[in-house]
Amino acid sequence: MEAKSEFPLDARQIDAFRRALLDWYGEHQRDLPWRRAGDPYAVWVSEIMLQQTRVDQVRPYYDRFMELFPTAAHLGTAPLEDVLKAWEGMGYYARARNLHRAARRVVEEHGGQIPEDPARISDLPGIGPYTAAAILSIAFGKDCPVVDGNVVRVLSRLFLLTGNPASSAARKKIDGLAGRLLARGRAGDFNQAMMELGATICTPRKPRCGACPVNPFCEARKTLPDPSVLPRKRPRKQRPHHHVAAGIVGRNDEVLIVRRPTDGLLGGLWEFPGGIVGKGVVGEEFLAEEIKNTLGIGIRVDRAVATLRHAFTHFEMTLQGYSCSHLEGVARHRDGNECRWVRFDDLGSFAFPRAYQRLIEAAAEVREDRQPAGST
Ligand code: ADE
Repeated sequence: MEAKSEFPLDARQIDAFRRALLDWYGEHQRDLPWRRAGDPYAVWVSEIMLQQTRVDQVRPYYDRFMELFPTAAHLGTAPLEDVLKAWEGMGYYARARNLHRAARRVVEEHGGQIPEDPARISDLPGIGPYTAAAILSIAFGKDCPVVDGNVVRVLSRLFLLTGNPASSAARKKIDGLAGRLLARGRAGDFNQAMMELGATICTPRKPRCGACPVNPFCEARKTLPDPSVLPRKRPRKQRPHHHVAAGIVGRNDEVLIVRRPTDGLLGGLWEFPGGIVGKGVVGEEFLAEEIKNTLGIGIRVDRAVATLRHAFTHFEMTLQGYSCSHLEGVARHRDGNECRWVRFDDLGSFAFPRAYQRLIEAAAEVREDRQPAGST
């Protein structure tokens, strides 16, 4: 006999919940390319992209990525530079680096096939419990519950969970509820339906409870004037703010770019030389000295090009870009980082962080204004 469970719904209600959710998903699911593909590699790529990026934003990136790297073998044998370029603008570049490393291992250790074994798939770089469960359930039909931020929100409201979802006790409870609710035999659809519900109906603000297929089961809807107070929000920490100066150093028709080390923030991407400007320091003065110290060249700062703000997960940045001229010296980076002189018009073939892409756009406008049409 099954032990008496603490689960808030009885077997009949669970069954009704699953049916209502799956029927709704069958009718309302978004037509997304990776859902059509039925290919574990496609599911994997989409799940990595969707980790920190919304579906609408992911779609064009996904289509382009799959055209460039249609299989794990194509991805695993491509240069990292090409993979970062295809990821450019989506942020969280560690995802792209890990995906690339993992694809290489899939080729070398698994004959190009994504492993179906939970321990083997979880051993690949960038595949944590969430991604493993998503691939195993969606691509291989295994009964693994998926718990992402959307699912945490849906479950917190359904079962009136008032604990801090970041705590291990609350998280354990959420995982248990997700496992108990999972529609065995249809885990892929069930997991996607839960995520879809969170993304489109049970949204962080202004949830559309009237349109929710499982609203008869929702404790928050029954008992709270505003269900969106759940899950409990973490107090937002104030992010530090950095002022960064960057020099677009010109020499004839070329500009100097420097590659960030592969490990760490924005690893492997290109940027213009510069750095964080201390409080009370003048950007122009800092820049000439910083570039002399890190690259061994003399420059002249000619003019400010643009000031841009950009938010990262852990800090905010004001990026001040300056147009500069090379005066003397051969550029060699103090720490051995790769540096190159490239034609301004070729910058588009290098992967830059979003903020620097915006700076390039601003600099291109300034160049156009200063150069008569047709000249170089
Ligand atoms: N968010 C992340 N993965 C998803 C999926 N497979 N379906 C819907 N939303 C998602």
